Amino acid sequence: MSKILLLGSGELGKEFTIAAQRIGQTVIAVDSYENAPAMQVAHGFEVINMLDGDALDAIVAKHQPDFIVPEIEAIRTERFYDYEKQGITVVPSAKAANFTMNRKAIRDLAAKELGLRTANYRYATTAEELEKAVAIVGMPSVVKPLMSSSGKGQSTIKTESDIEKAWNYAVEGSRGDVVEVIVEAFVNFHSEITLLTVTQNNNPTLFCAPIGHRQERGDYQESWQPARVSDKDLLEAQDMARKVTEALGGAGLFGVEFFLTNEGVYFSELSPRPHDTGMVTLANTQNFNEFELHLRAILSLPIFEITLEKNGASAVILASENSNHPTFAGIEKVASLPKTDFRLFGKPTSRPYRRMGVVLTNDSLETPIETIVERAKEAAALVVVNPTSVMA
Ligand SMILES: Nc1ncnc2c1ncn2[C@@H]1O[C@H](COP(=O)(O)OP(=O)(O)OP(=O)(O)O)[C@@H](O)[C@H]1O
Ligand SMILES: [Mg+2]
Repeated sequence: MSKILLLGSGELGKEFTIAAQRIGQTVIAVDSYENAPAMQVAHGFEVINMLDGDALDAIVAKHQPDFIVPEIEAIRTERFYDYEKQGITVVPSAKAANFTMNRKAIRDLAAKELGLRTANYRYATTAEELEKAVAIVGMPSVVKPLMSSSGKGQSTIKTESDIEKAWNYAVEGSRGDVVEVIVEAFVNFHSEITLLTVTQNNNPTLFCAPIGHRQERGDYQESWQPARVSDKDLLEAQDMARKVTEALGGAGLFGVEFFLTNEGVYFSELSPRPHDTGMVTLANTQNFNEFELHLRAILSLPIFEITLEKNGASAVILASENSNHPTFAGIEKVASLPKTDFRLFGKPTSRPYRRMGVVLTNDSLETPIETIVERAKEAAALVVVNPTSVMA
């Protein structure tokens, strides 16, 4: 039996913890606020600012975990190298967590060191540098703070007059003390996918069937599995995913994001952990969901194969306002639907656009994926968060 220190206790951490509980592991869940989703199902919890390296050191010393499993990016990941030296396994590796918390490290690794196809990109630390960078990568282009997630501080530059706005917006949405942005050419993709990739200790790297998704305001709205991808594009994406996960090292599940265009596949970014779009695997699309796969890989339990059992979709349930007592209406309507399920994450508070739950639908492998996505969307639309105040 191992002790796992889970850094980040959202809905993804909650499902991971449930998977760990099912096979008798001990989980201490950490986040910046009390009663976070994963804390509700863990053995113990800690409330700290995970960007505070000393606070992080203190709980690692206190709990002496076998594994540190990051669930979010905003952690003082530089300390992870020390924990590795102390003999703790950082999942999937200190390097993977540290490189992916900063877009520069992972992008340079992918594009320069590994030669993967990415959008043309440059960096900038001032509005003037951004102007020069835009002149090189062209317009339209996408600006993102190096340290940010969920689309925070991200905007598209279409004309010269957008440049200063984009800079200011990126500064506002940036995490961390130094503000630097990446500006990359807008990729005119026909679809985007997440390729869940599982690296194992002493066993081959495995891939899940590709997951399609639709993004709005920087967060995914619906995801589905399998995405329609040509054999050629899939092999190319798998090859890139294998290279980048190998370079980052360690065992675990990664969510590798790609843009598919008529000119081929572009690597975008990756999460060295379960991916939010991978919640579709909670619809029983696979023999193991993404959380079970992550756990098994971490514990060096051999995964023989990953099989697609059903076609499935997920659609998010979002709040529309602030509340300290989120309530839900319409759940019984969702429950009454065939081949449909849902999760409510148990978040103690809501705010506009906060993800509070997810609807899951599935059907046979012969059913067109569009039909299943449509059912998930319609079912999610039946749920209203905080119904009394929304209708008042
Ligand atoms: N160069 C680009 N061209 C076209 N669209 C892009 C580009 N970069 C990002 N996007 C769009 O914005 C979305 C979010 O971008 P990205 O994944 O880089 O940011 P993020 O903030 O890390 O998001 P998340 O943390 O939610 O994955 C992408 O999924 C894609 O839809
Ligand atoms: Mg992304």
